[in-house]
Amino acid sequence: MMTPVPGDSLATSVKILSPMVEAVGVSKQFYGVKALQNVSVEIYPGEVLAIIGENGAGKSTLMKLLAGVYQPDSGQIRIHGKPVDLSNPSDAINQGIALIHQELNLADNLTVSDNLFLGRELLWGGPLKLLDRKAMSNLGSKILARVGLDVDPGVLVGNLSPGQKQLVEIARSLSLNGRVLIMDEPTSSLSQKESDQLVKVIGELSAEGVSVVYISHRLGEVKRVASRVVGLRDGRNAGTLASNEISHDSMVRMMVGRDLEKFSKPEDSKLSSDVRLELQGLKFIKGGPDGISFKIRAGEILGVAGLVGAGRTELMETLFGIRPCLGGSLFLEGKRFLQGSPAAAISRGLLLVPEDRRHHGLILLQSIKQNLSLPNLKSISRFFLVDPFKESELSLNSIKRLGVKTTSANKLVGLLSGGNQQKVVLAKWLAVGPKVLILDEPTRGVDVGAKAEIYELISHLAGLGVAIIMVSSDMEEVIRISQRVIVLHEGHLQGELCGDDINEESIMQLATGSKEVKVG
Ligand SMILES: Nc1ncnc2c1ncn2[C@@H]1O[C@H](COP(=O)(O)OP(=O)(O)OP(=O)(O)O)[C@@H](O)[C@H]1O
Ligand SMILES: [Mg+2]
Repeated sequence: MMTPVPGDSLATSVKILSPMVEAVGVSKQFYGVKALQNVSVEIYPGEVLAIIGENGAGKSTLMKLLAGVYQPDSGQIRIHGKPVDLSNPSDAINQGIALIHQELNLADNLTVSDNLFLGRELLWGGPLKLLDRKAMSNLGSKILARVGLDVDPGVLVGNLSPGQKQLVEIARSLSLNGRVLIMDEPTSSLSQKESDQLVKVIGELSAEGVSVVYISHRLGEVKRVASRVVGLRDGRNAGTLASNEISHDSMVRMMVGRDLEKFSKPEDSKLSSDVRLELQGLKFIKGGPDGISFKIRAGEILGVAGLVGAGRTELMETLFGIRPCLGGSLFLEGKRFLQGSPAAAISRGLLLVPEDRRHHGLILLQSIKQNLSLPNLKSISRFFLVDPFKESELSLNSIKRLGVKTTSANKLVGLLSGGNQQKVVLAKWLAVGPKVLILDEPTRGVDVGAKAEIYELISHLAGLGVAIIMVSSDMEEVIRISQRVIVLHEGHLQGELCGDDINEESIMQLATGSKEVKVG
């Protein structure tokens, strides 16, 4: 009999078994870009394998090879040791491999239940093949309960928050009875509470013998869920960590190849007293709670926390003029500001970098250069004509400044990796020179190295006197970056925290509504 090894039981015991699925020496190129070179990875039954690596390292590509979305140029995919040819996603699904895409793939105009059963609808017995909506709704509720999502299966997916959509997508894959479930950044749009729920679900699945492959840039989370970690760097294997070797620092070293500088917040005492933006009883939800009041000074970094659905994005969109303001007032540099349109906000130096980059932040079918030029036309034009020299200069500077990984400024934004798309969104607005910059989930899907760069950039901008409002569901990030944190709960300003009071426990108490702190 085998004696269990203390502290490393799962990772050790799974290695005794043979891998369920493996990639053996796979390579994949896209138009000359070597996304993967001779990469191997083994997935054992019941393990939670995390794949980590910087933006563009090849994680999603590797997963797409395992899930039949792409085919390797060379190398093999093996299932239970036998080479297989996965020529499309249904081949993979038939073999029990389900992939949850990094960018959501749900149909907004269909109901939750329709999305769950898309392509395998439940039918009444009989010749007419009528849809059995009741059965789908009942089964749908059960499937949703598995990921702790409490919504009516009959509502349109378009009405759900990004966090809820993500859970639907996860529920759908679970219901395909996958034996290997690949989650590509499943929590990037989930709140802390929803992420915790997912971590719990993953634990349960793994105990049932389902393998979970987990990709995330949130290293705290990786540490909690993973029984083994595989690293990729520039499209190649960068190493493997057994469960007792997994730590924040060991993961960073494997991904980046060096240690990163620690971020330090600007000092409170150095802040100016200029109030940049002030909200007085601003109402943004019809029939909702009292209006919201707070101030932010030049150079300050204000974190905005709350659960998904607390109204953070809605409040930011109201400030920016995308949604109507339903009462109260807003002052920009002491002057009353009637928000009405994003153009008005931009002309006063109030900018919003949105949460959902694919829908609002970028034009995916245009090049990086064109995306960067759009909001900056004034500064790169002469006599109403775009000056190609200035345009190139702007894009090259931005690419360099944010470390966007691309072969050229003319590459279509849609072909960049997720994190690099996010950097382009940021670069686009930074070049405008904002006074108040609202960042909604600025590092969603961004790797540790790039995160550190974005934090440096935020701190740099704050140093130049820009007032920064940062909405984030990443608790670690809110705590690390913000000098002050406001917490929303069901559209209401539940409280404000500063200094040592900014910690996970206090934020959660406010976010869940179990406590309230008067503001002002
Ligand atoms: N369909 C495609 N066409 C062209 N290039 C692609 C395509 N898919 C990926 N690439 C390129 O392959 C490389 C690896 O991308 P991939 O999406 O696998 O990275 P990733 O590790 O998942 O990054 P992220 O953390 O940002 O999601 C990148 O340079 C990317 O631009
Ligand atoms: Mg990816």
